[in-house]
Amino acid sequence: MEGGAQRFDKLRAWLDERIGLKDLEKIARKKEIPVHRHTVWYYLGGMTLFLFMVQVSTGILLLLYYRPSAEEAFESIQFLMAEVQFGWLIRSVHAWAANLMIFTLFVHLFSVLLLKAYRPPREVTWFSGVALMGLAMGFGFTGYLLPWNELAYFATKVGTEITGAVPVMGPFLGRLLRGGDDVTGATLTRFYGIHVAVLPALTTLLLGLHLFLVQKHGMSVPPGVDRRDRGNRTMPFFPNFLLRDVVGWLSALAILAALAAYFPAELGRKADPFAPAPVGIKPEWYFVFMFQTLKYLPSYILRIEGEVVGVVGFGLGGLFLLLIPLLDRKTARGEPSRLFTWIGIAIIVYMVILTYLGYTVSPTK
Ligand code: HEM
Repeated sequence: MEGGAQRFDKLRAWLDERIGLKDLEKIARKKEIPVHRHTVWYYLGGMTLFLFMVQVSTGILLLLYYRPSAEEAFESIQFLMAEVQFGWLIRSVHAWAANLMIFTLFVHLFSVLLLKAYRPPREVTWFSGVALMGLAMGFGFTGYLLPWNELAYFATKVGTEITGAVPVMGPFLGRLLRGGDDVTGATLTRFYGIHVAVLPALTTLLLGLHLFLVQKHGMSVPPGVDRRDRGNRTMPFFPNFLLRDVVGWLSALAILAALAAYFPAELGRKADPFAPAPVGIKPEWYFVFMFQTLKYLPSYILRIEGEVVGVVGFGLGGLFLLLIPLLDRKTARGEPSRLFTWIGIAIIVYMVILTYLGYTVSPTK
């Protein structure tokens, strides 16, 4: 009789011949993680990846009950929250994990920025990362409308109006997003298509590229550490680092479950396009710094509408962020580059202060 171990060995040999199991094992075993005082930041990308997986799996479960029309969307979520077993839990985890994912994404972005991980040959890793950030914000913006409740309806009205301020393309973009002149059931159907098909497809492609490049180049060592400590201690990725990753993921899952249980996602009132806009309309927290900036701008700056100046400014800001690996010539040459460290810190301080003001200075306007 064949033993369990022998059968397992046979299966391994069978798979190895067909898909090259040994090659995969070699790749996994070759990967080494540098160990130094900034190693902790290497966990952020993996954490974001884990939260993205949570979003995909809870999102698929939500799809089974959700109905993407102005007539039925709100009611389908009401049913999910009240009647479907654990429906409330799945929806709440999806809502919380979305926020946590955007947060870990910001931390990942700024840590790789400050540690200069974008320097050659990792420019394309950075470009794909900035695009992933844009897609994640797109997920948040489109997902917010899907429950078709009052707050989401009016926030989307304001958000799509701002798109209309983009020069030349603005009115076209606004209509394209809304599926007409106003936010209606057509907008909801579009946002649904973008949220569950377009963005997941693009994200999967870009994530594939991002992870392939991370694998190809290995982890970068920050310039300061590299100069000081040429000894280069490392730790095997498999299984040592991966097991540490898993500890982080299980902790995140526990935190998510607790947040979902104690602070379940709310639903509010069904959207009524004819009702007056409620006070205190705010976008999700990660858009607040831009929203608040637009509020502070005067109506006209040099005879151009303030809102247009703001939207163009943020567009250029995004382009600057994307091009940092090409603009920071000093880092590329291996020289210290204080300027870009300070730019990174200035962006973080600006975002934190404006977000804080957004929640404290004018909470009712
Ligand atoms: C869905 C979004 C994202 C996922 C799932 C993701 C995932 C990962 C993973 C797993 C790693 C390897 C471990 C680590 O360094 O943390 C990594 C590295 C990296 N990521 Fe991301 N990432 C995302 C978005 C971004 C963004 C927004 C940026 C910056 C604009 C970025 C830039 C980089 C860079 C430059 C590296 C290489 C780091 C190094 O070699 O030290 N990523 N990413």
